Amino acid sequence: MIKETHLPPKKAAITAVGAYVPEDKLTNADLEKMVETNDEWIVARTGIKERRILKDPNKGTSFMAINAAKDLLEKRNLDPLEIDAVIVATITPDMNVAATAAYVASEIGATNAFAYDMQAACSGFLYGMSNAANMIAGGRYEKVLLIGADKMSSIVDYTDRTTCIIFGDGAGAVLFEASESDHGWEDEYLRSDGNGRLFLNIKAGGSLYPTSKETLEAGLHCLYQDGKTVFKYAVSEMADATEKIIKRNNIDPNTIAYLVPHQANKRIIDAIAKRVKLSDDKVMSNIEYFGNTTAATLPLLLKDYESKLKPGDRLIFAAFGGGFTWGAAYLTWAY
Ligand code: UT7
Repeated sequence: MIKETHLPPKKAAITAVGAYVPEDKLTNADLEKMVETNDEWIVARTGIKERRILKDPNKGTSFMAINAAKDLLEKRNLDPLEIDAVIVATITPDMNVAATAAYVASEIGATNAFAYDMQAACSGFLYGMSNAANMIAGGRYEKVLLIGADKMSSIVDYTDRTTCIIFGDGAGAVLFEASESDHGWEDEYLRSDGNGRLFLNIKAGGSLYPTSKETLEAGLHCLYQDGKTVFKYAVSEMADATEKIIKRNNIDPNTIAYLVPHQANKRIIDAIAKRVKLSDDKVMSNIEYFGNTTAATLPLLLKDYESKLKPGDRLIFAAFGGGFTWGAAYLTWAY
């Protein structure tokens, strides 16, 4: 239900989680047959053993987003008509113009909601959490469904060994509502630097380089990444943001339940954990099985660790991605 104006600010909380990953797996052994690479290199340099791939050519990101949302709705026994807004964080929308979120909202029956896509690459879900939490905090909306979903296999060049080994497909969803306790969204630190677009992009298909025979022939519609440069920025900016959030909230690292880091590379995750002095058991990780699913990594982590979480658990989120975009956030778990 949409509230009237002038309500006191509320603390927003995540109150439900859902997820969907396709059944088909792309293993390191499969990739060995496609490009000049090997399992040992991939595991040592990234920590990834397999990824999920949405093979059906007739299904786009919305298929996974809808399934993640349905998983959440069923678990929570929630009437979709109660949802006020649907945000889909993605860089692989079904179509460039019609928002994937609008289609997802219609397909799940959230016909009282407004819906839009959030494009902040691997930070999309983190930025989306900020949007959703602040919509709730403003008091005007009661239920915001945030989905992170990407069909990375639709933009990856499977002849480029530097990118095809990293990415996978998947979707995760969370519901934001006003907290019924003191727990919920505590703080956020979000940043961006547009100069980063040189190092991580899809050059063509936008207004700068519209699709043409030349852009197609030059392969400019696939994901390009200068891995080394992105790696360097990801480590320093994610670690700085994480440290900032911990310090300005006076959090003793020993009291953190989990770091919830974007799953881009196990070495990036390890470097951040080391910098903020967190042992492995306090770092959520599933990169081994899903690779980098871009906007879906954070909700897929929440889904995997949901059963271990308890009210009051301190979670520190961190992400870095194309743009560049990055940030960190502090949330206390509500259920
Ligand atoms: O989620 C959005 C943000 N993205 C990221 O955070 C990703 C950041 N970057 C990375 O994760 C890493 O840079 C990569 C995994 C992409 C690459 O790892 P790296 O350790 O930075 O490798 P590199 O690019 O420095 O390459 C080292 C060597 C090169 O060979 P030479 O020049 O030393 O002979 C590459 O050609 O490894 C070679 N190489 C490979 N070898 C086997 C690159 N890719 C592969 C491969 N298999 N797939």
